[in-house]
Amino acid sequence: MKTMLSVRDAPVHGKRVLVRVDYNVPLRNGRVADVNRIVSSLPTILLLLRRKAKVILLSHLGRPGGRRDPRTSLRPAARALQKMLPRVKVSFVPACIGKAAETSVERMKPGELLLLENVRFHAEEERNDARFAARLARLADWYVNDAFAASHRSHTSLDAITRLLPGAAGLLLEKEVRLLSTILKPRRPFVCIFGGAKISDKIVTMEYLARKADVLLIGGALANSFLCASGIEVGRSLTDSLAAAERILKRYRRKIVLPSDAVVASSAKGKSRVVAVDAIPLQSRVMDIGPATVKRFCRELEAARTVFWNGPLGVCEVARFARATRAVAWFLARAHARTIIGGGDSAEAVLRLGLVSRFIHISTGGGASLEFLAGRTMPALAALERNYARFTKRG
Ligand code: 3PG
Repeated sequence: MKTMLSVRDAPVHGKRVLVRVDYNVPLRNGRVADVNRIVSSLPTILLLLRRKAKVILLSHLGRPGGRRDPRTSLRPAARALQKMLPRVKVSFVPACIGKAAETSVERMKPGELLLLENVRFHAEEERNDARFAARLARLADWYVNDAFAASHRSHTSLDAITRLLPGAAGLLLEKEVRLLSTILKPRRPFVCIFGGAKISDKIVTMEYLARKADVLLIGGALANSFLCASGIEVGRSLTDSLAAAERILKRYRRKIVLPSDAVVASSAKGKSRVVAVDAIPLQSRVMDIGPATVKRFCRELEAARTVFWNGPLGVCEVARFARATRAVAWFLARAHARTIIGGGDSAEAVLRLGLVSRFIHISTGGGASLEFLAGRTMPALAALERNYARFTKRG
């Protein structure tokens, strides 16, 4: 049953269309340091431009706490967009509501693009505020949500606004939902790789996917907590939520593969060496999983038909501790499994290796993809479904 309208089917010709995108991108020296989220929004933008819509983009960037903060202005994103679309007029307005924004929209011609300023400069954004929604809605005739990565938030520009304008799902949002859903009905063997730092951020998803997976490979700082919970000393390594690790271990011990060796060092700059996990020196920290563990992981992945990967396997910011993540990414890029990479740091590692096209999907959502895969209701998706029932289905 169809539950939301696709932007493909929305009658937007010549209309003002407010597109909620997620341009929460890293900035460095006033420039966008990782353009992946912007590139991912292009299919929807181009479709709307071809239909001669006036495309008004709205996003958040960082957490400015409801105040104007030049460090989180979206102006650099407008410059990046203009570079990607040299034949399109891309404008930027340093406001997202009020006179300046309204005048900029009035001046737009069909087939033009306008990026509004960071919606989180207004505290009302995070309050899912009806009055703020009305001020945003005044700018447009249609609303499109193409911000899957923010759709776990019940914020004004993702939720309340859908009560005021007819809405549709953007192409990126549709793709994320379609491909992440394949993980919920995987072809077997289904292998999950979990890494990264904190259990607390991914505990619900881990437990949910542990039930579905045939094998769970655990690396990164996350593995320290599991090693610790199984009685192994991990020196000065980071650990987190030991009780949760114990619980998961107890329930799913048979499916879980923990590291058997590790790369340790006294600090990120210190000399490193490979040791068995039961010989981690008290003064050392685990920086990466070791080569024997990488081999073991690859053996499990060889047979897999579906793989979900969330979180790097070592301290990837330091090149020499990114070896295991790189080796596993290369292995998967050549393997037969349908591989989906959950956003955030693991996506960044794969993007840096230039392996994007080799994977079925690299999610743009970090927290959002975890919430989706934990089977939780995503407020912005639910809002779009209600919008469909309200505006479109009834005709
Ligand atoms: C993200 O980067 O995960 C999304 O843009 C959501 O950002 P937030 O966690 O600040 O709401």
